[in-house]
Amino acid sequence: MRRIVARFDQVSKYYGSGEGATCALRSVSLEIEEGEFVALVGPSGCGKSSLLHLLAGIDQPSQGKVVVLGESLAELEDRKLTAMRLGKIGIVFQFFNLLPTLTAEENVELPGLLRGMAPKEARRKARALLEEVGLAHRSHHRPEQLSGGEMQRVAVARALLLEPGLVLADEPTGNLDSEASRIVIDLFRDLGRRHGATLVLATHSEEVAAASSRVIRMRDGQILGEEPAKLPES
Ligand SMILES: Nc1ncnc2c1ncn2[C@@H]1O[C@H](COP(=O)(O)OP(=O)(O)O)[C@@H](O)[C@H]1O
Ligand SMILES: [Mg+2]
Repeated sequence: MRRIVARFDQVSKYYGSGEGATCALRSVSLEIEEGEFVALVGPSGCGKSSLLHLLAGIDQPSQGKVVVLGESLAELEDRKLTAMRLGKIGIVFQFFNLLPTLTAEENVELPGLLRGMAPKEARRKARALLEEVGLAHRSHHRPEQLSGGEMQRVAVARALLLEPGLVLADEPTGNLDSEASRIVIDLFRDLGRRHGATLVLATHSEEVAAASSRVIRMRDGQILGEEPAKLPES
């Protein structure tokens, strides 16, 4: 049996309280297994980002239980949560979130340096990952000198630096044209396979969803239904 990387047990999330409260997730239960590439698909406002934030430990559920990589997030102290987030979960955002004054290579090695990795080792790994995402020749460029697709590939390399078990991506192609989107999605799929990482990606693009191994459809804070892989696993 495959290992369960994340489990939601009747999880609800509210923002605010009383009359003005918004319910972003309604009693969501799900399990994600090691090695899956899950696409969360649904219209804007259906709760995709809220679900990812709970997976990342950036936010806590209002009700229910979230277990990620064997840890019940509500029971972890802040310090441990931060350490886990930095070490075991890689995150890719819609707007790349690269530091503008650092080169591509420096952006990629940063999580290693923040975790006390030897600078030489961080650099070696950053270079290997930039090579893997096809950007070795852009290592010394700053973000403003890169295209959107290239910035997102740098962000993917950065997310993998600490060899996380879980990689989360929130609308990672939301700001890219279709050609760049395809490259980034292929990259996710290959890297997931090659690095053994589990991927959970929020999107409203059917094309992106089609590249995943499992589609979870959401509407109004709830999971509607699930579809098996459209493409055979190779
Ligand atoms: N920090 C917040 N404060 C208040 N309401 C929020 C907050 N974040 C999200 N929401 C609301 O929760 C619902 C789900 O939002 P979100 O998870 O961002 O959906 P999606 O990522 O699918 O667009 C929406 O109605 C949104 O307006
Ligand atoms: Mg969102």
